[in-house]
Parts: sequence; C-alpha cells; structure tokens
Amino acid sequence: MENNEFEPLIIAFCCNWCSYAGADLAGISRIQYPTNIRIIRVMCSGMVHPNFVIEALTKGADGVLMCGCHPGDCHYREGNLKAEKRAEAINLMLEDYGLEPERYRLEWVSASEAERFAGIVTGMVKELKSLGPNPFK
Ligand code: FES
Repeated sequence: MENNEFEPLIIAFCCNWCSYAGADLAGISRIQYPTNIRIIRVMCSGMVHPNFVIEALTKGADGVLMCGCHPGDCHYREGNLKAEKRAEAINLMLEDYGLEPERYRLEWVSASEAERFAGIVTGMVKELKSLGPNPFK
C-alpha cells in the first residue's frame, strides 16, 4: 500500500517528573497515538531555553511540543511558570521566522495523564498535517 501522506516530525520536550512519566504510562498502557514524536527527557520544562525550540524548528522539525507539570506541581517550584513566560518569547520568535504559532505548543501533563498525553500528540499531528511541512525543511 502506498501512502504519500505528509507525516510531521514533532520534537517533544518532556519533564522527567510528570510529563515523561505520563508519556511512559501511555506506552505501558498501550494507548494508541501517532508515532510522529521524538521525546527528549529533560529535568524540568523551565530548563529548556527558547533557542533549543527554534533550533529544532529551523533544522527541520515540523513542530515542537513542550510538556511540563501542571502549575503548582513543578518539582523545581516555578520551572513551568518560567516555561510559560518563555512560550510568549517563543511565539514572538516564530513570528520573526515566519513560522505558524501552531508549530509550538506548551502543555501540562501529569504522570497519571496518559490519555491526555496521547490526545495532545494526536491533536498536534492532525494540526501539523493540515499546516503542511515546515518551510525550513
Ligand atoms: Fe515538571 Fe518542572 S519538573 S515542569
């Protein structure tokens, strides 16, 4: 069977304490979701500098997903709030690069939210498919 449909590549930064565990639980629970993501495990969403996001997008990723603990649950107290502030800066940078804001997404996923994680990935893949490939590719 031939399938020429565009398959977006998503780089997902997942914090070790909540989101990575949620992604892991999705796998352990055999929840079905698209295989378009490549997860990078980080200690906290607050440690991911906007330059990493821009670098991923300018080097060919179709989208970047940042997942952290829910507000109030960050294991480093305010890392996720820092990530939230950085999201504003990232959105401005996307505009400068002529990239659509949908190519970056910040989401909160707890260790027990496997279904939520799968749903976020599924939704983002769908959205990126409708946008088409990253022009930097
Ligand atoms: Fe999860 Fe900070 S430890 S967002």
